[in-house]
Amino acid sequence: MTSYKILAISGSLRADSHNTALLRAAQKFNSGLDIEIYDGLRDIPPYDMDLDNPQNRPAAVAELRRRVDEVDGLLIATPEFNYSIPGVLKNAIDWVSTDWTKSEGLPLLHKPVAIMGAAPTNFGSVRAQLALRQVFVWTESDVVVKPEVIAFRSHERFDEEGNLIDETTIGLIEGLLEALAKKIERAKQ
Ligand SMILES: Cc1cc2nc3c(=O)[nH]c(=O)nc-3n(C[C@H](O)[C@H](O)[C@H](O)COP(=O)(O)O)c2cc1C
Repeated sequence: MTSYKILAISGSLRADSHNTALLRAAQKFNSGLDIEIYDGLRDIPPYDMDLDNPQNRPAAVAELRRRVDEVDGLLIATPEFNYSIPGVLKNAIDWVSTDWTKSEGLPLLHKPVAIMGAAPTNFGSVRAQLALRQVFVWTESDVVVKPEVIAFRSHERFDEEGNLIDETTIGLIEGLLEALAKKIERAKQ
């Protein structure tokens, strides 16, 4: 597998987040992708269209847009908050989804994206993942459909140090990353 560059974003700011732990597992169990975990979500301010231009964007936002632009694909792990994705994640995606001056290009347009999610409930982020797919319809991003990585009852899948120990989930993550790499490869042809 070619070493494509992937920016991985967790929708949870929690220190012991299972979603961030899924991303760490993706770093460990993938065959050849260069996956970097984004840790700037906390610094992204609320979306403000008045500031959403190359001259006025907050530094953290400009940096995120630059990084999304530069990578070959995105990997997002989302928890489910009130049947949807966390506001912090949606807010960051909003900032990266625009080009009002029509001078910069749209960072998410046709960008290959893989989605996964963890939650301690029996539904395990299913509704959040569906909501996230819907967001990427408007941005015209290229989202991997299968396999779906749904770490329901997430507390049963990690050891005390936050290492993913559930073989089924590990296999699904490997399959998801393979599908992401194939998507990137096709996009480059
Ligand atoms: C505000 C809030 C709303 C939540 N709503 C849901 C929900 O609708 N469905 C669900 O399965 N879990 C819900 N949860 C539980 C989260 O899925 C759980 O906290 C999850 O573990 C967070 O992911 P993390 O381990 O990566 O931090 C909610 C949690 C919070 C804080």
